Amino acid sequence: MTEAAGDARTPQYQYVLVETDGPVGIVRLNRPKVLNALCRDLIEELADAMTAFDRDEAIRCMVLTGNERAFAAGADIAEMADKGLADVTRDDLLGAWQRLWRIRKPVIAAVSGYCLGGGFELAMGCDIIIAAETAQFGQPEIKIGVIPGAGGTQRLTRVAGKYKAMEAILTGRMIPAREAEAWGLVTRVVPAEECLAEAVRLAHEIAKMPPIAVQMAKAAVLQAYETPLAAGLEYERRLFYSLFATEDQKEGMRAFLEKRAPQWRGR
Ligand code: HXC
Repeated sequence: MTEAAGDARTPQYQYVLVETDGPVGIVRLNRPKVLNALCRDLIEELADAMTAFDRDEAIRCMVLTGNERAFAAGADIAEMADKGLADVTRDDLLGAWQRLWRIRKPVIAAVSGYCLGGGFELAMGCDIIIAAETAQFGQPEIKIGVIPGAGGTQRLTRVAGKYKAMEAILTGRMIPAREAEAWGLVTRVVPAEECLAEAVRLAHEIAKMPPIAVQMAKAAVLQAYETPLAAGLEYERRLFYSLFATEDQKEGMRAFLEKRAPQWRGR
């Protein structure tokens, strides 16, 4: 049962729709006339909405989605077209995106239709990607005289490797869902009509897990993209040890030994 947008926990925005389904926060990109082109105000609102869910103790996992035709067809070309170097530098065109990468709770992208340019970068910044069979990924920036600017050259390369990433970024071609799956770019591909429901189902499954351990697990996995192996292993070990300071660790292990379901307190 979802809660409609518009109350204190789900404020209304112009370009994103926000709702909750129990412990799952759902954010829907909402500029359908322009295939959810990511204008600056949309990204600001998205960062506001996701940061609010990140701070809301009742929310354990988030789902980010678009509509059937497009997750997002990229940054808003009309907004960028006349800008010069001085404008984008002074205004820090992509500054708000940094706030998205700081979300600590897991975010699942449910992707149908076009997922291009900044839209693809946004999906790759999520933690799990459920793709509809209709999803089409791509970094077409080269065709409009630029390159990916919100992580595409880095995240795509780390996941798909140099040779797949290079072809995708130098040609801008679309990558169908099944091909993206073969590259390891999506968690799984599902029929279009099941995409959002599957993402929400998975979010509920994660929401049942102990929340501090979930956040530390996310942080540890992301660290694998940031550090050499030895430093990443050390980081993981420290997070692992730190979880022994939580009540949930005691509860989880005791519940296992007592053959009962754990009651997580998030402490
Ligand atoms: C602004 C966009 C847009 C975009 C689509 N639209 N993508 N507007 N920015 N990125 C608008 C179109 O202008 C059109 O508006 C309406 O959405 C419908 O799009 P059509 O092109 O008519 O649809 P279709 O023929 O089905 O083609 C779909 C498409 C195409 C293949 C996805 O729209 C397309 O190539 N879009 C641009 C994709 C792209 O280059 N993305 C990268 C952007 S740069 P009207 O008013 O005519 O109906 C980027 C940089 C990232 O993302 C850097 C960091 C953020």
